[in-house]
Amino acid sequence: MLNIVKVSSDEQFNQVGAGMIASLLQSNPRAILGLATGSTPVGVYSHLIELYQQGLVSFAQARSFNLDEYIGLSAEHPESYRHFMNEKLFNHVDMDLKNAHIPDGTAADPEKAALEYTRMLENAGQVDLQILGIGHNGHIGFNEPADELHAHTHVVELKERTREANARFFNSIDEVPTHAITMGIGSILKSRQILLMARGASKAEILERALTGPLTTQCPASLIQTHSNVVVLVDQAAGGRL
Ligand code: GLP
Repeated sequence: MLNIVKVSSDEQFNQVGAGMIASLLQSNPRAILGLATGSTPVGVYSHLIELYQQGLVSFAQARSFNLDEYIGLSAEHPESYRHFMNEKLFNHVDMDLKNAHIPDGTAADPEKAALEYTRMLENAGQVDLQILGIGHNGHIGFNEPADELHAHTHVVELKERTREANARFFNSIDEVPTHAITMGIGSILKSRQILLMARGASKAEILERALTGPLTTQCPASLIQTHSNVVVLVDQAAGGRL
């Protein structure tokens, strides 16, 4: 079931998103979070930090698995997703970094690193809440439109459109990595609940396609229509066609 929550301000967006994560951790301190990067969740993570500072939420016993990581960027690189997560969330809360998993983008053998990530995810059990953003071409994590999709964590070549969209975070598009490691669609769909977040008019069309169009590997996000517990958090602009 898709439950669409349309909010009218950034503040409300961040409150609702952070509120869902916080109430999960309040009822189950040992919850497994599936975390996402990109610009959309940044405000949600900031609000979570505030809730932590107010003593309303703790990450001390939580575990997390991030969706994806660029190949070739170390944890120190400002645009690596490990660095992003440290800066935007982990460094400011009581999360034990041993329990905060992100695919290893610097592994000598990325395929092997992807396999290990799959194994770790499966050993951990079910992700309780999977946070997702959406790319303009319908990608989730870095599962790009393709004739075939993968169930498990794997190495992926990024589409030009994705590299262009993410170039805003780098000095130039040449610096944007060409490959990434991403959790597969199967792992994403196995989570107990999905929170898909989108903001801004540029996401309106792809959201409509993903949530109301046909299921197709050419729009990986469309597959979340098959999940039984999805919350779609949107602002008025992104939700304009829903
Ligand atoms: C990136 C990430 C995705 C994210 C998407 C949208 O490519 N790999 O996980 O959902 O971009 O990003 P934004 O939230 O900045 O629009």
